[in-house]
Amino acid sequence: MAEPIVRTATARDIDSVLALWRAAGGTATVTDTPNGVKRLLDTAPEALLVAEASVVVGSLIAAWDGWRGSFYRLAVDPDRRRQGIGSLLLREGERRLRTVGAVRLTAILVDDDPAVSAFWRAAGYERQANRARFIRHLPEEPAAHLR
Ligand SMILES: CC(C)(COP(=O)(O)OP(=O)(O)OC[C@H]1O[C@@H](n2cnc3c(N)ncnc32)[C@H](O)[C@@H]1OP(=O)(O)O)[C@@H](O)C(=O)NCCC(=O)NCCS
Repeated sequence: MAEPIVRTATARDIDSVLALWRAAGGTATVTDTPNGVKRLLDTAPEALLVAEASVVVGSLIAAWDGWRGSFYRLAVDPDRRRQGIGSLLLREGERRLRTVGAVRLTAILVDDDPAVSAFWRAAGYERQANRARFIRHLPEEPAAHLR
C-alpha cells in the first residue's frame, strides 16, 4: 500500500473529504457540506490538511485565529488506522501552527470514543476538566428584516 503524504487540501478534495468524514463515523454538523468546506478553504487556505495515498485517507483542520491553534475533523479511513496516519497529520498541523505563532493548541473531540481519547493522550495532550462548550447555530443568511 502507498505511503501517505500530507498536503494542503484544495477545492478538488471537497467531495473526498466529506466522504471520509462520513466513513470515519463522526457526527456531521451544519458545516459538513460542500459550501462549508469551500468557505473554510477560501477563508483559511492552509487550514485543511489531507493525507493522500493515491486517494484521501485522512484529514485534519489545523486552524489559527490569532489566539489559539484549534484542531477539528481529525479522521482516518477506518481501513488505514493504526498506521501512523493520524500522527502524521497532527505533526504537520502542529508544525504549521507553531510557524504562525500558536502556543496553545486545543482539540474538541467526542467524549465517548476511547480510540479518539487514546490518540490525543498518546500525542501528549491533556484532557481539560471543568470546561463545557456552548454552541448556537446561526441561519446561513441574515433574515430579511435584519438586512
Ligand atoms: C483517532 C484517529 C484519527 C487515529 O488515527 P490513526 O491513524 O489510527 O492514529 P495513529 O496510527 O497515528 O495512532 C497513534 C497512537 O494513538 C493511539 N491510538 C490510536 N488509535 C487507538 C486505538 N484505537 N486504541 C488505543 N490507542 C490508539 C496509540 O497510542 C497509537 O500508537 P500505536 O499504534 O503505536 O500504539 C482514528 O481512530 C479516527 O479517525 N477515529 C475516528 C475519528 C472521528 O470520528 N473523527 C470525526 C470525523 S469527522
